[in-house]
Amino acid sequence: IPVDPFDLVIFGGTGDLARRKILPGLYRRYWAGQLPDDARIVGASRHEMPDEEYRAMVRAAIEEFAIEGRDDAARIDGFLSLVSFVAVDATGEAGWSELAEKIRPDLIQAYYFSVGPSLFGDLAERLHKHKMAGKETRIVVEKPFGHDLESARDLNRTLRCYFSEEQIYRIDHYLGKETVQNLMAVRFGNVLFEPLWNALYVDHIQITVAETVGVGGRGAYYDRSGAMRDMVQNHMMQLLCLIAMEPPYHFDPDAVRDEKLKVIRALDPVPPEDIVRGQYAGAEGIESYFTDVEDEASLTESFIAMKLHISNWRWKGTPIYVRTGKRLKARASEIAVVFKHPPHSVFGQKTNDRRGNVLVIRLQPNEGMNLRVTIKEPGPGGMRLIEVPLDMSFAEALGPEAADVPDAYERLIMDVIRGNQTLFMRGDEAEAAWAWTDPIIAQWEEQGDRPKLYDPGSTGPEESLMLLYREGRRWRDIQ
Ligand code: BG6
Repeated sequence: IPVDPFDLVIFGGTGDLARRKILPGLYRRYWAGQLPDDARIVGASRHEMPDEEYRAMVRAAIEEFAIEGRDDAARIDGFLSLVSFVAVDATGEAGWSELAEKIRPDLIQAYYFSVGPSLFGDLAERLHKHKMAGKETRIVVEKPFGHDLESARDLNRTLRCYFSEEQIYRIDHYLGKETVQNLMAVRFGNVLFEPLWNALYVDHIQITVAETVGVGGRGAYYDRSGAMRDMVQNHMMQLLCLIAMEPPYHFDPDAVRDEKLKVIRALDPVPPEDIVRGQYAGAEGIESYFTDVEDEASLTESFIAMKLHISNWRWKGTPIYVRTGKRLKARASEIAVVFKHPPHSVFGQKTNDRRGNVLVIRLQPNEGMNLRVTIKEPGPGGMRLIEVPLDMSFAEALGPEAADVPDAYERLIMDVIRGNQTLFMRGDEAEAAWAWTDPIIAQWEEQGDRPKLYDPGSTGPEESLMLLYREGRRWRDIQ
């Protein structure tokens, strides 16, 4: 079903995110019949560029990032006919009246701020000044939403001078991932899991987001951020919220976000002994972190593992281990809920032979879920127990089309047009996440500790294994 007609302006329309994600995502939605024929997509950035040149850039982006199975010249031309370009100066006056002429005030207007946060205020102010904002206006802002609590507060304050909270869509693309949403469906659409979803039955939870890429060409940004600001404060925090939150009374933006906020606020401060920070070393043919960021003295982490506690009735005493890093052995993101052992060993197994059930929610790649259960080993050998997975790969269970799920960005952009904020961060959530993150960062900045070196292609520094080992637990393998 197509969404209502809209005008979408992408500030930063020639940038990397626009080329890799936003424009290819829009094309895929167009292909799926979800964009109305009179939608307008306007790329905007500082340098003059004729429409035709911009369309050629968009065509190249589609061919590189969206074409698979969607290679149809007429459809690509159809999509490109919706696209145009205007050069605007975010901090000056050039181009704004031309842009304003393209905007149809009676339709939905979405302004995507795919630019650095230092320009958010300028853009918001000029949209107002040029009367390009009305009741049906939404603005989309990219992460990082600030660098710390103070800057996030400033950003919120600035944006709210011009737009209401209902008009501000703070993107965290992890919330647009198919399995992340499925997590809510599994938790709140079944009776099976929720009664066990608490400290009485759950031994611990592991959240892993492992990447094989290094920081590559993003060294300048990354070295100011590190894994904590780049991944934990936002993506990992959102995963943690969805896994740990109370059932919302309704799947409605504020009901869901109220519950997530409570989780963030209940997070305990993390003592230094529960944190391991790492930095990837080089190897043959692979640059080290130092080389990638061109700073041998850098103390920024490209890996972090932490043990967290949520101080509330449901989770008191259940540790939540999170880890994320670059240049690890595989690209693999998953959440594992590890349940406790059965209280008594009916079959006489030794304690260390008994393992609990594990529910694994696989975010990427190979989206799906699996539940590890104990059964009897088939055959005449008596009551020997083995563990087998009850496996549900979406592709296998639901057919290949189910594996062809919309990319997080395309889903989220459609939600913006529909006016649905459920999968976007509210201002208070972003601030609460920084309020928890800031003291942790301040603590290690004060100590000036060097992150531990780890080999590219490994699972991170050895110390990260110890974080669980010392408590008789172990990380699941990254694969
Ligand atoms: C981004 C981070 O937000 O998420 C990157 O800035 C990271 O450093 C990326 O690589 C991971 O996203 P995905 O969707 O590839 O898991």
